[in-house]
Amino acid sequence: MLKSANMPNPLLPICISGLRLIRGDRAVLAGVNLTIDEPGITVLMGPNGAGKSLLLRSLHGLITPDQGRINLGSLTVADSRTEQAMVFQQPVLLRRTVLQNLAFAAPKTAKTDRQRLIQALESVNLLDRADQPARMLSGGEQQRLALVRALLGEPALLILDEATASLDPASVLLIESLVKTQNVQGTKIILVSHDQGQARRLADEIVFISNGQVAEQSPADRFFTEPRTPEAKAYLAGEIVV
Ligand SMILES: Nc1ncnc2c1ncn2[C@@H]1O[C@H](COP(=O)(O)OP(=O)(O)OP(=O)(O)O)[C@@H](O)[C@H]1O
Ligand SMILES: [Mg+2]
Repeated sequence: MLKSANMPNPLLPICISGLRLIRGDRAVLAGVNLTIDEPGITVLMGPNGAGKSLLLRSLHGLITPDQGRINLGSLTVADSRTEQAMVFQQPVLLRRTVLQNLAFAAPKTAKTDRQRLIQALESVNLLDRADQPARMLSGGEQQRLALVRALLGEPALLILDEATASLDPASVLLIESLVKTQNVQGTKIILVSHDQGQARRLADEIVFISNGQVAEQSPADRFFTEPRTPEAKAYLAGEIVV
């Protein structure tokens, strides 16, 4: 668990080598080699079906790849689970109130600390919803709750898979601001986004995935001005990439 932004992140570097995942008769991850060693925000981009979600699910330990290795710092995926959090495009909330969802997920120290839970709800403008059933929140409200719940444990790594897709602009900016603050406080952020505006606002580096492989890994400013691969050029130009 992170205590300070000045401490080295225990889950870095993230080293992924030779990662293969077969689904049906196809390698949907076809030998992914990727090293992420910078503490900033890494944005995964790439066309639909490229393998972004499967890669992040493998990193989070939700899928066991058929071949290859993942290390996070000196840890395996299994040993790093408690230091990681993931937020999905469709938030997974319990059939409880908003506040209970937070309390249930909070680490023991925070669980008893009602004040901390209240502050967390306030930070995403959900305090007035505290006693409502969480599943009756709107999509954007649920997403804000899922994010603040993920952050309560102060994870060393936060993974977001299209967590702001279909949210209104104010909710998107609120979530982006929370993500940036959390990164400054020491949490490594890896997120998937198809939103080029968002990627430009947030990314320190871009990892471009195509056909189950890493096609390109570049500092964000260079990726947007001089994408190196034809696939990335076509993607940024809005062409169909297969
Ligand atoms: N259980 C499965 N059986 C067969 N194919 C699968 C299975 N799960 C995923 N796939 C395929 O793996 C490929 C990669 O899926 P993935 O969800 O990682 O794509 P993605 O890059 O996240 O795309 P998107 O941008 O649409 O979210 C897709 O072509 C998908 O159809
Ligand atoms: Mg996906």
